[in-house]
Amino acid sequence: MTHAPRLALVTGASSGLGELIAERLAERGADLVLVARRRDRLDALAARLAERHGTRSTVIEADLARPGAAAEVWSRLEGATPDTLVNAAGFATHGAFAAEHPDRIRDEVTVNVTALVELTRAALPAMLADGHGAIVNIASTASFQPVPGMAVYAATKTFVRELTEAIAHEVRGSGVKVIALCPGATRTEFFDVVGNPEAAVGTPAEPAEVVDALLRALDRDRTPSVLVTGFANRLGAALARLAPNRLLMPIAARAVSYEPGSATATALAGRR
Ligand SMILES: NC(=O)c1ccc[n+]([C@@H]2O[C@H](COP(=O)([O-])OP(=O)(O)OC[C@H]3O[C@@H](n4cnc5c(N)ncnc54)[C@H](OP(=O)(O)O)[C@@H]3O)[C@@H](O)[C@H]2O)c1
Repeated sequence: MTHAPRLALVTGASSGLGELIAERLAERGADLVLVARRRDRLDALAARLAERHGTRSTVIEADLARPGAAAEVWSRLEGATPDTLVNAAGFATHGAFAAEHPDRIRDEVTVNVTALVELTRAALPAMLADGHGAIVNIASTASFQPVPGMAVYAATKTFVRELTEAIAHEVRGSGVKVIALCPGATRTEFFDVVGNPEAAVGTPAEPAEVVDALLRALDRDRTPSVLVTGFANRLGAALARLAPNRLLMPIAARAVSYEPGSATATALAGRR
């Protein structure tokens, strides 16, 4: 049955996957709560959705890296309960862990993990009480093995995937769909933020391929708890589940263009 939300809250709605998911849900008649830092982008999207689909959007400008921001977003809903939550806000850092900026990696963990956990916890009880709803948490193919050179990012995405799988198991039979979306490299602003296009593994997919696959999964009676999009990504994820991490890590490091030994070099450079 087509998943047609009444009210969907989408974080990371100012660009990329979050923006397209918001559009597709509006096409299905959903009113939206649009969350991100770039208010101008959210306002433009809200206007577009109203014009094209006649749906109402509430724009919430929020920096989810700020402790307490997710709770503030939730309180701004003033009791309105989304029947769909899409946690799409996220970003990655790239390089040797020892050389990463401490504030930047703290923000990465707060946006990718803490805000997602808090919003998921806030949204789920009302969905369970209604026996209806969906939570989409965007993880990544980076969640299937440690990734030297993107150590923090991959670890946050492993957290997201495993948390989501566990919750999906807990709510089985409740009528609430809980899914970890695991795209591989996708043509969004993601790699602009990473600052290194060579961190992209393989040929990037178009956002529409990823979002269409997500909607097909949500429309199924038995929505899978993990959805890896793209044949090559599914193959990689299946192999990653079989092979030991010590074999996978050199391949993952090369795939994201991380130079072995650069951790020591940058750490020494930083001490000079
Ligand atoms: N593209 C890929 O290759 C790829 C692959 C696997 C998984 N993913 C995941 O897919 C999700 C969506 O990413 P994307 O590819 O669509 O990248 P994107 O185009 O860069 O979008 C990222 C979104 O996250 C929001 N965001 C980032 N930091 C935020 C903060 N501090 N507070 C609030 N919002 C914040 C951004 O909004 P503002 O900047 O306006 O705040 C933006 O809307 C992310 O979780 C990413 O990890 C992406």
